[in-house]
Amino acid sequence: MAFTKEFLFGGAIAANQCEGAYNEDGKGLSIQDLMPNGVRGPLTEEPEPHNLKLIGNDFYHRYKEDIALLAGMNVRVLRLSIAWSRIYPTGEEEQPNEKGIAFYNNVINTLIYYNITPMITLSHYELPLHIAKTYDGWRSRKVIDLFAKYAKTCFDYFGDRVKYWLTFNEVNVTLLSPLLSAGVLTDKSEISMAERYQIAHHQLVASALATKLAHECDAELKVGCMVAASAKYPMTCNPDDVIEALHQQQELDYFVHVHCKGEYPYYAQRLYKEYNVDLEITEEDLSLLRHTVDFISFSYYNSKTVAKDESKYDTSAGNILRGLRNPYVDYSEYDYPIDPQGLYYVLHYYYKQYGLPLFVAENGLGHKDKVEYDDQGKIIINDDYRISFTKAHLLQVERAIEDGVEVFGYASWGIIDLISAASAEVDKRYGFVYVDRQKDGSGTLNRYKKKSYDWYKQVIETNGKYLHE
Ligand code: BG6
Repeated sequence: MAFTKEFLFGGAIAANQCEGAYNEDGKGLSIQDLMPNGVRGPLTEEPEPHNLKLIGNDFYHRYKEDIALLAGMNVRVLRLSIAWSRIYPTGEEEQPNEKGIAFYNNVINTLIYYNITPMITLSHYELPLHIAKTYDGWRSRKVIDLFAKYAKTCFDYFGDRVKYWLTFNEVNVTLLSPLLSAGVLTDKSEISMAERYQIAHHQLVASALATKLAHECDAELKVGCMVAASAKYPMTCNPDDVIEALHQQQELDYFVHVHCKGEYPYYAQRLYKEYNVDLEITEEDLSLLRHTVDFISFSYYNSKTVAKDESKYDTSAGNILRGLRNPYVDYSEYDYPIDPQGLYYVLHYYYKQYGLPLFVAENGLGHKDKVEYDDQGKIIINDDYRISFTKAHLLQVERAIEDGVEVFGYASWGIIDLISAASAEVDKRYGFVYVDRQKDGSGTLNRYKKKSYDWYKQVIETNGKYLHE
């Protein structure tokens, strides 16, 4: 059987998109507190009430109820992130914020009480604002040390109960959005690709250093990298398009390679030439990079179709990554491609190259949900579209496992409705649990099980057999 009882079926969330409580219990501000429009708008001077992330889905106050709901679905893993500014409010303190430590201790203990394995992302798009303002985010090397201190604190306090760690969420996104992924406040238009590679280098060194620290803390800790993955398809069999797909794939693989092999790949030379990169890299950096990860994790939402001359084709939408319109796949309500086989492709692709265990850290369908009522006046949400999306993708995971690919888990993104990353909206929902929060900020924040809740529960209960019903 492809899915064993050890397979980590589960869900994923991120602190800045669900916790809320942006200024409670000593938490410092993060860049997200000034990003009411996600990556699609200017930052505000101060946190403003229309920023939905300031309250999120109120996980900070409702984590017990939420984790009980996850347990009710038989969820085996929760991938969650720690808000750096809850542990070190500015990033520069010598001692961590005890209330922040206490909060995550409570969350972790609750997960363990319900037999749910925690997997923690150290940095999920929410650099402490002070670091962003003082150093222009990861443009400065100084941030490597600040991150190492924060990471070590997390391993020291939580490593006795948390075995799985991810360093940076979608670290390759630094090339596309230096603000979101690296807290760089200078306008993107002024940050050349050459500089983006340097910024990414600082993060890659920091990731390797964190891996080293985790292994020193406890050799049993498992650290993974996390990239925004995508299968890159050539639009045609014109060799120009095929090579374009190869090159775009390499731009992404660059990040996985350094995490897994401890050095930059051979094709870095081509990328550096193309973008005029002259990487400032020290001997110490080189030796730190040698601390490689134990597994690979990635988000997969869809495939991307590319061509050498993209002007000839229509494009489709996407959160951060966009591609050309592929006539052979379906499209979501948001005009994002839906391509389950792309996940099968990505799983094979990474396993063939690196032979490391794989974890699907994010996958899911963003969709508006319609609230209806049954005869007794009880709220129902018939999200059949989400069930078919998840089913189709899990079947491709199963297919890859049957082929021999080592996949140890799958986390459905935003398993409890939360605020979206790219556009900071709440209407685009991913969850199997509905949260009553509306785009004008109103709502009771009450939780309701969607149709997908019972479906996922049965999938997990039957170790995937229910996918074939
Ligand atoms: C991933 C991010 O890129 O996509 C998540 O890691 C994000 O934080 C998810 O929420 C879905 O994107 P969006 O913009 O619809 O929330």
